[in-house]
Amino acid sequence: MDAFEVHGGARLSGTVHITGAKNSALKLAAASVLSEGRSKLTNVPEIADIPAMADILRHLGVTVTAGPGQLHFDVPARIGGETPPGLARRLRASIVLLGPLLARRGHARVAQPGGCNLGNRNIDMHLSALAQLGAEITIGADHVEARVPGGRLQGADIELPFASVGATENLLMAAVTARGTTTIRNAAREPEITDLAAYLVAMGARISAAGTTDIVVEGVEGLHPADHRVVGDRIEAGTFAVGAALTGGDVRIEGVEPSHLRLPLDKLRTIGAEVIAEDGAVVVRGGATAKATDVVTLPFPGFPTDLQPQFLVLLSQAAGTAMVTENVFDGRVQFVAELVRMGAEIAVEAHHAVVRGPRPLHGATVRATDLRAGAALVLAGLVADGPTVVTDPHHVDRGYADLAGRLRALGADVRRRSDVAAGVA
Ligand code: EPZ
Repeated sequence: MDAFEVHGGARLSGTVHITGAKNSALKLAAASVLSEGRSKLTNVPEIADIPAMADILRHLGVTVTAGPGQLHFDVPARIGGETPPGLARRLRASIVLLGPLLARRGHARVAQPGGCNLGNRNIDMHLSALAQLGAEITIGADHVEARVPGGRLQGADIELPFASVGATENLLMAAVTARGTTTIRNAAREPEITDLAAYLVAMGARISAAGTTDIVVEGVEGLHPADHRVVGDRIEAGTFAVGAALTGGDVRIEGVEPSHLRLPLDKLRTIGAEVIAEDGAVVVRGGATAKATDVVTLPFPGFPTDLQPQFLVLLSQAAGTAMVTENVFDGRVQFVAELVRMGAEIAVEAHHAVVRGPRPLHGATVRATDLRAGAALVLAGLVADGPTVVTDPHHVDRGYADLAGRLRALGADVRRRSDVAAGVA
């Protein structure tokens, strides 16, 4: 059985290098179809979701070649518009192909993203926004089809009911070659949005105020290929930062912009860690003690939901009571049951989790319910008494390249059962 096997006790120390953000690279890859020709992405993370997106693009006729931390796209004059159901269902993020395919060829048929362990993952905002640009949407049992009757989308003034990252991205990529101006109000402000807008502008799009609540896109006739370096992964960086605080370690995290982690780093300081922000790097030193503090997840610049599970582990070791409120994904708190099995004292009430600490954790066999929960359980193993086995590690592989190897390089005793079977030291 493939699993992480963690033996706690080590303090993480050393330097870890963060590569490009999963939640940007996938959308940048989708955006490459907006222009015929050759584009290149660098600082691409070596994670499982990337080859999955590459296979979907190949199915559409794009030649994709992967180099070390690179993706090269050669987009033909005519590309397909239907993503392969099996593949696209495996990769929820493939829904962001809807916008660029509509913009490029006036038709798209994309698999309905399945539900996942974070609760329902609706796409109603994506679809109503694209409809306001003139797309005709048909929703099938397991796919979504969209057509542009006149062949070209029409710019509009659109207000999103929630600052949805995916809906903002789909809208941005659809609007770049629409006729006229599109304003996206209540837009998501995540750094990954700004990163996507920078790539689109390099391709010749006219976008202003990306990263604010109101993005303005002036439609252009067409785009040209461009090269782009993927922004550092703030969530991967935050995961290692929590590991350093949790184990009383001393870790330098390179390849991330500290301003993309402002709130989580402030919270680490409040809890008791020493955090030094540098240009393109963060140093985190765990404190001798940890103090509880409340956490409320919100769209950026609020506290990121993708660091909530990791902070729950840290707060389970902090003195006092912490209230963690999850406002983005209703299903995210289900990870708590796994952590409670390791000895944490956490009560879940609707979208609140009340954490009482410190409570000693003991090793157990636990299941990764999603990508971030899996990473958080590995972190919990670092401070648990006795071995912890985290099953379903494929969830973690989707967003973390070689998490076991990189934690081992920081002094932790973490291996993949398959490694263990293969006798990796
Ligand atoms: C992106 O998901 C990320 N995934 C998520 O990261 C991240 O947690 C999330 O943004 C918030 O930052 C990728 O970028 C691939 P949303 P996305 O649209 O775009 C509801 C990870 O672990 N909603 O901002 O799906 C939705 O159900 C993953 O890396 C609608 O109701 O997030 C959710 O409750 C997990 N209708 C909330 O909004 C819609 O049409 C936020 O969703 C769209 C969203």
